[in-house]
Amino acid sequence: MMTKMVKNGIIVTAADIYEADLLIQDGKIAMIGRNLDESGAEVIDAKGCYVFPGGIDPHTHLDMPFGGTVTKDDFESGTIAAAFGGTTTIIDFCLTNKGEPLKKAIETWHNKATGKAVIDYGFHLMISEITDEVLAELPKVIEEEGITSFKVFMAYKNVFQADDGTLYRTLVAAKELGALVMVHAENGDVIDYLTKKALEDGHTDPIYHALTRPPELEGEATGRACQLTELADSQLYVVHVSCAQAVEKIAEARNKGLNVWGETCPQYLVLDQSYLEKPNFEGAKYVWSPPLREKWHQEVLWNALKNGQLQTLGSDQCSFDFKGQKELGRGDFTKIPNGGPIIEDRVSILFSEGVKKGRITLNQFVDIISTRIAKLFGLFPKKGTIAVGADADLVIFDPTVERVISAETHHMAVDYNPFEGMKVTGEPVSVLCRGEFVVRDKQFVGKPGYGQYVKRAKYGALMADQDVVKMS
Ligand code: URP
Ligand code: ZN
Ligand code: ZN
Repeated sequence: MMTKMVKNGIIVTAADIYEADLLIQDGKIAMIGRNLDESGAEVIDAKGCYVFPGGIDPHTHLDMPFGGTVTKDDFESGTIAAAFGGTTTIIDFCLTNKGEPLKKAIETWHNKATGKAVIDYGFHLMISEITDEVLAELPKVIEEEGITSFKVFMAYKNVFQADDGTLYRTLVAAKELGALVMVHAENGDVIDYLTKKALEDGHTDPIYHALTRPPELEGEATGRACQLTELADSQLYVVHVSCAQAVEKIAEARNKGLNVWGETCPQYLVLDQSYLEKPNFEGAKYVWSPPLREKWHQEVLWNALKNGQLQTLGSDQCSFDFKGQKELGRGDFTKIPNGGPIIEDRVSILFSEGVKKGRITLNQFVDIISTRIAKLFGLFPKKGTIAVGADADLVIFDPTVERVISAETHHMAVDYNPFEGMKVTGEPVSVLCRGEFVVRDKQFVGKPGYGQYVKRAKYGALMADQDVVKMS
């Protein structure tokens, strides 16, 4: 593999901002310094650009069956769009079926990704039940597959929802085995009652999706999950936090010293509940769970990112076309497939709305979209930073370019973009994964199948010195 040198850029990590050259050899960062000798290397001029570690999206659903259909973006279109957006690693949710071996579910997910992904990827594993068979398989899931995070749904009754006993037992097992438990925290039983009642009362429009999933039910489930985490003396990551009530519960748990972490998503930071009221059924484009909230919640979420009560940004990419897919819910909002196309705009929205508008610092931005995620999910320091020995996963980012987000120019496979018309400042110009260009000068030059499956370290492994220094 030819050596490459990134010159003239400003390197940004979660800790530092400085001008330096980067030498890339064998897919890794080999040297960082001023005026490095470029002979024999292909020079990449990053003048006027930031160079930051590739974004890591901890929350994607690609090629996932859901809501009577299958997400439009698969591992090929989804990872191409991710790369255009400055993401070089994703962690996708592997669904499981009750009574079926976990191994089978994991194989299914490998088959979806192999030969398609253009950037690196890992899997989280959904836990839907705890049986003797599941308990017997979990150590292998961790040791052999490097899957060190388990997902429990507290909502979607009769589809994905697990009961509190299952959540508690998952927390206990995760503590013992070294995994991080992730929860979709909404009270599924009460939502089930409220949605049935709304339909009985003749309320069928998309806005009722939000009105039947009030923020109190997210706050309640988040608090319950925190309490169970305390009882199990375990570790918890709350996905897609959308509201003040949930932030409050996470902050309370963290103030008690619990190992509780929170993720929010771009859609909750910049869109609000009124989008579900768009005419001609267009509100369906904004149906996902938890739902969009009243606008005042946005400030709470921004503050939580700023002060560290929330630590990460996921996309919750789960895309469906408006035509033919979202439309399945015309006349019954409960039949609208839940989810949106977000993977491509996650990094740019945080940069533009966060850094450019002075809500977070540039270092916080890198931490939130990459470094902290790498640390929590066992990818650091191979990924998530710019350091000698780390994978050369790099984004060369022009912080000045102004553009408008649109379905006409995005790379996701869907027929709409929820951020349509939004003006953002900043754009990835070139993106490298393990030293190879995936996007070069805003053109796709990657290869389906280039993306490698990444086995991840156990939760907390970083606390041991030997895991910090072993980089290659
Ligand atoms: O509506 C959403 N968020 N769809 C994806 C599945 C989930 O709950 O994360
Ligand atoms: Zn969810
Ligand atoms: Zn999700």
